[in-house]
Amino acid sequence: MQVSEARVIDGGAAVEVSLGAERHRFHALWLRDNARDDKTRSPGNGQRLITILDIPAETTVAEAAAAGGTLSLRFEPEGRSIDFDGSWLARHAYDRHETRPPGWTGKGIERWDSRLLNIVPSESWTDVTNDRRALGRWLAAVRRHGFAVMTGTPTEPGTLCKVAELFGYVRETNYGRFFEVRAEVNPNNLAYTNLGLQAHTDNPYRDPVPTLQILACLENSVEGGDSIVVDGFKVVERLKAENPRGFDLLSGHAARFAYEGSAGVRLRAKRPMIELGPDGELIAIRFNNRSLAATTDVPYEDMADYYAAYRRFAELIEDPAMEVTFKLKPGELFIVDNTRMLHARKGFSGTGKRWLQGCYADKDGLYSTLSAIEEEGLLQ
Ligand code: FE2
Repeated sequence: MQVSEARVIDGGAAVEVSLGAERHRFHALWLRDNARDDKTRSPGNGQRLITILDIPAETTVAEAAAAGGTLSLRFEPEGRSIDFDGSWLARHAYDRHETRPPGWTGKGIERWDSRLLNIVPSESWTDVTNDRRALGRWLAAVRRHGFAVMTGTPTEPGTLCKVAELFGYVRETNYGRFFEVRAEVNPNNLAYTNLGLQAHTDNPYRDPVPTLQILACLENSVEGGDSIVVDGFKVVERLKAENPRGFDLLSGHAARFAYEGSAGVRLRAKRPMIELGPDGELIAIRFNNRSLAATTDVPYEDMADYYAAYRRFAELIEDPAMEVTFKLKPGELFIVDNTRMLHARKGFSGTGKRWLQGCYADKDGLYSTLSAIEEEGLLQ
């Protein structure tokens, strides 16, 4: 993108720049702070070398010119001339009036229900460990759809940690580096339940919450026991469309979550069931009947409506039209974005064993590895 025209406006407090067919204004202080020259940013690691206090508060642009597609500015009182790349300016332009409704999501995210998602995103262990492109596709599916399956993984205990290490790090918790999800159908032993589990997000009582979960199957010879995933962001969209007040209540008030089930462990978090960023972006959902604590942050006058919204949120989550189901075979696993997806298990019966292992990891590492793969040009 070329800068074709530039002029100083507002007495030097800003400049107006023509970038292609568009005109954008940029503040002098913003430009000075975001300069890319080697005195402002380290050429080695790209980190900023100055603080806001190194920039005079009275900074203005004294001269602006479009030269060879680049924006050339002279800043006063520093008396420094700095160039800005047109493409960089176009990517970082902020002079626009976008009104995004609360609950919006970025364009990389595709919300789905059972009608919209007819293929479960999946890659094989052999491919992701031998081909960075396959790994990139698998990670991109997690970003786009919130989950992905992997087939053909070794059925040795702990393999799921190696999967987390393909893109990041295991998040160790009080449950260990990974944990067992084991159930046996055996009338003499009711220690392990074979009941279904309501769809939920994991560990909402942690702050920060684990942002990824991996569940790996080592044995599954029971009847039933299918895994279910639900796109919580799609559920939020439905809730908001039919009950805007319910959406406001669940996003505008904190819920409380707690796990106090082991000696020495008192995990507590105060966060809303639907979490929005300051600009209304849908950041996360939290939903877990087992660890929801007493709600104390909703005014008395709103509590009845809050509970009605919570009930409706649960009904939508349970709606079969929202879910995708699959049955994991030994050597198969799935990963979920635990800030977006709900996961559940159907009840099972008959004879046999169901043995899964779970671990947590985080999205920052996944996104970092995915961005690096994208920058290598491997995903075109
Ligand atoms: Fe879970």
